[in-house]
Amino acid sequence: MNILETLEAKSKMLPEKYKNMSVQELEDMIRSIKEKMGKKLFIPGHHYQKDEVIQFADATGDSLKLAQLSAENREAEHIVFCGVHFMAETADILTTESQKVYLPDMRAGCSMADMADIYQTERAWEFLQVLFGDTILPLTYVNSTAAIKSFVGANSGATVTSSNAEKMVRWAFSKKERLLFLPDQHLGRNTAFNIGVNLDEMAVYNPIENILEFDGPLEKVKVILWKGHCSVHENFTVQNIAHVREAYPDMKIIVHPECSREVVALSDMAGSTNYIIEAIEASPAGSSWAVGTEMNLVNRLISQHPDKQIISLNPHMCPCLTMNRIDLQHLAWSLDSVVQGQETNLIKVDEETAFNAKLALNRMLEQS
Ligand code: 13P
Ligand code: SF4
Repeated sequence: MNILETLEAKSKMLPEKYKNMSVQELEDMIRSIKEKMGKKLFIPGHHYQKDEVIQFADATGDSLKLAQLSAENREAEHIVFCGVHFMAETADILTTESQKVYLPDMRAGCSMADMADIYQTERAWEFLQVLFGDTILPLTYVNSTAAIKSFVGANSGATVTSSNAEKMVRWAFSKKERLLFLPDQHLGRNTAFNIGVNLDEMAVYNPIENILEFDGPLEKVKVILWKGHCSVHENFTVQNIAHVREAYPDMKIIVHPECSREVVALSDMAGSTNYIIEAIEASPAGSSWAVGTEMNLVNRLISQHPDKQIISLNPHMCPCLTMNRIDLQHLAWSLDSVVQGQETNLIKVDEETAFNAKLALNRMLEQS
């Protein structure tokens, strides 16, 4: 059995009932449950979710905003998280014991978060302590498991999102002389570069081979980047940029910092999901944009701004497949289960893990 088959065998799958309902029936069911439950129910939706789901979100946002909203919300007894697994875990950690968090489809993971597990992280830490001694502070992108957040919290580190990465990297350097950045090498590299760390001061830790990829004297290393990446954002290339520059010379290119250093360097602007949305919203009618981020969001921007020319930086881009697991049928199933008192696809981080993970998250929220 491969990982997906094992997960499918373990997690509950969508019952036939919801597969046989029409779009109208599903939407009516969701609307009536939302009405009946009022503020006892909260549906956060990440910007990468499909329109059919986002229309029912009580709040939309990037991963930072959704974490902040979860930390603030004390009214909702049930939080049905329309996003991916690590976001639902974060919401569970930041809410109270009595608040329940559900993920409508357990297969909504994140390929980047899967590129670092806790065993690899502990092994890496041991290895790096031998090389560098007690000079490293760990930072983890929120796109990581609760166990890794917990490890980072227990070692005086913090989480970051793409909205506050620069602030958090500066914060880390105020504490220690080096940092380990998990699990996205691109966000780590782009952020450190922006605050003045040279590329030849950054090493890459390869978790598969347990080696450090670096040419030069070790004392030069300031940033250790975990060798992980987003399988969506890695599909934007320098060739895409060259094509846009040639075909649309006046077009502005804006990308997410999960794109590679080369792509970010050749773009006009780079920033978090929220930054991209705000930049396009603030631009004058008639402006034109090539956007390097997830396709559900790009399509939404296209339909929300008919007065602007907006295209995907990569014309063959597809949505994030795991974000896309959440659909109308799974949302209806999840809400219906809540009404029936069933805890279908409940996300529960164990107390010990949650304690230290919350330290890491709170250090970030205090700085944001
Ligand atoms: P942000 O929401 O922080 O921009 O992150 C994008 C992302 O890839 C979420 O998985
Ligand atoms: Fe993970 Fe990339 Fe999808 Fe975000 S877009 S959830 S980082 S795979």
